[in-house]
Amino acid sequence: MSDINTLAVIGCGTMGSALIQSIYRKVSSSAPKHIILTTATDKSLEKLRIKFKIPNANGISFEFTTNNRLAASKADALLLSCKPDLSLEILNSIKQDIKDKLLISIVAGFSNSRLETFSKYTCTIMASIVLSYTSGPISLTMNPSVAARYGDYLDNLLSQAGSIILVTEDESDITNAIIGSATAFTLLYVESLIQGGISKGLTYDKAKKMTLKMVESTLKMVLTAGESSEELINALVTPGGTTIDGLLTLEEGKFRSTVTLDRKLEIRCILKNDNVRIMHIVFTSDDPDSPGIICTINMIAN
Ligand SMILES: NC(=O)c1ccc[n+]([C@@H]2O[C@H](COP(=O)([O-])OP(=O)(O)OC[C@H]3O[C@@H](n4cnc5c(N)ncnc54)[C@H](OP(=O)(O)O)[C@@H]3O)[C@@H](O)[C@H]2O)c1
Repeated sequence: MSDINTLAVIGCGTMGSALIQSIYRKVSSSAPKHIILTTATDKSLEKLRIKFKIPNANGISFEFTTNNRLAASKADALLLSCKPDLSLEILNSIKQDIKDKLLISIVAGFSNSRLETFSKYTCTIMASIVLSYTSGPISLTMNPSVAARYGDYLDNLLSQAGSIILVTEDESDITNAIIGSATAFTLLYVESLIQGGISKGLTYDKAKKMTLKMVESTLKMVLTAGESSEELINALVTPGGTTIDGLLTLEEGKFRSTVTLDRKLEIRCILKNDNVRIMHIVFTSDDPDSPGIICTINMIAN
């Protein structure tokens, strides 16, 4: 299916490991035969050696190194998963080895057009560490020439990890907020319900079990129902009942507007020095009682 036998994961930390775990879990004709993982330090490399000491990783062999140039020169394709502020320096150090190779990046805030200065074939993806545990959403941004040459390959490879959603470069900031950050927002909601249950006398185990089952079954309902979420909410409320009362109380706390409606997403960049910017993803509002919330802070190479 493809001529990509060796994949190098440059900067294989939390996110790189999550993606690789999701790729070797299932047999795929797109899966590389050999994966080279790089880190900055021997300590992190040792942890990867233990994590990826897998007797039968669907026929995939692993190699570990702190030498990015060695990894890049051996690889047919690369996955860049280092921190944003290091991306430029690392790409510059390996650019002579990658200009004709497929370069996949999961670095937040590092656009496809900037990657194109390093390779002819680039694409950006966004996912979250959910992939370490289960299938999750993966956004994919690529230009038409990459789609023509590697579209099927990427589709096959990434669909092992989750559901692919094609997005344009203009959609990437909000995509990063939803796919990259909103897992944490959802967990905060789950944790708040559990704490609420405990504060009203439930044991931790009971509060956790009922919260997780409720969230799991709600998501299954949304996935299988023909109705929209709004229609399902209307079906859940009884006039004068406790559910509508609870929804109105959430609105008093500006729950919905905090998440989306009367707020607009702003990306504020603060120049720190010639190479590094700090990016704040901020939800802002004109409401003086409800100031902006900083949701994510990232360092990005300029
Ligand atoms: N974490 C998430 O949920 C998430 C979600 C979506 C996207 N992302 C994106 O994924 C990227 C990585 O995030 P992360 O959370 O996985 O970070 P992380 O766990 O800190 O991993 C970064 C890795 O890069 C390595 N590294 C540092 N300098 C290097 C160098 N010069 N050469 C090779 N490797 C080097 C580090 O090695 P050492 O440990 O030895 O320093 C570490 O293994 C970021 O750009 C982020 O925007 C993350």
